[in-house]
Amino acid sequence: MMPVEGDQQLRQLEHRQRVLFSQDLRGSRVLEIGCGQGDMTLVLANAVGENGSVLAIDSARGDYGAPRTLAESQRALRATPLGSRIEFRLETTMADLSDQPFDWVILAHCSWYMRPAEWDEVVRSLPRFGNRLVFAEWDLDDSPASRAVRLQARVAERVPEFQLNVRMARPFAEMGDSLVASGWELVHERALDTSALMDGRWEIENTRNEVPTWLNEDWVLRELAELEGVAEVRSLPAKVAEFRRT
Ligand SMILES: C[S@@+](CC[C@H](N)C(=O)[O-])C[C@H]1O[C@@H](n2cnc3c(N)ncnc32)[C@H](O)[C@@H]1O
Repeated sequence: MMPVEGDQQLRQLEHRQRVLFSQDLRGSRVLEIGCGQGDMTLVLANAVGENGSVLAIDSARGDYGAPRTLAESQRALRATPLGSRIEFRLETTMADLSDQPFDWVILAHCSWYMRPAEWDEVVRSLPRFGNRLVFAEWDLDDSPASRAVRLQARVAERVPEFQLNVRMARPFAEMGDSLVASGWELVHERALDTSALMDGRWEIENTRNEVPTWLNEDWVLRELAELEGVAEVRSLPAKVAEFRRT
């Protein structure tokens, strides 16, 4: 997700607000994995209230992210009235955390940024940190945006050292199945209205700009040609699911 100013920034926050559709987080200790610039973190800090707290971790360095870096954005959020409820930790994965119980663990729009092995490691580690989980992610359909993220994921698999945003584009149901297979029970799931969001357009632009043209292989060139001149960009669909462990 690219942080943007104005109307789109507000819509991004509203989208994260819809991710928390029924959970009462007041007074909770929350662990957010893959917090990025902190959009979801801010919504969580509001939801936990003055007696709650959010530990928001991200594996990236502070200088990652554009047009605003993670460090800049997180510093700005810490300076807001909700900032004292948030602890950000950069260059941090779950492997760096000591075992500690949280009331909720939140994964919002971060799993596609992980390589499959990193996702497997996250799924394995989750039970060390809590029994209630909210998982939100984009889904795949037949749109040009889905085509673009599939291409990013294929390129990331083909050239692992190349740093693209999306490294794994899997259908939402498949991600949920991997959680269920590791012992999580699905409490409920629902589709999110993404019609006001521009992430689909951004992913097409990212793909055009970042997929290396030196990767002169037929399938890459064919996919890039398909994305040329895409006029109307439907937003990527998204879903959210709540899981628990008993
Ligand atoms: C789309 S961005 C941030 C989304 C953010 N949760 C939100 O909803 O606003 C996804 C982030 O996941 C981070 N990430 C990827 N793999 C990670 C991992 N194994 N542990 C922690 N963070 C990770 C990336 O560095 C990136 O900043």
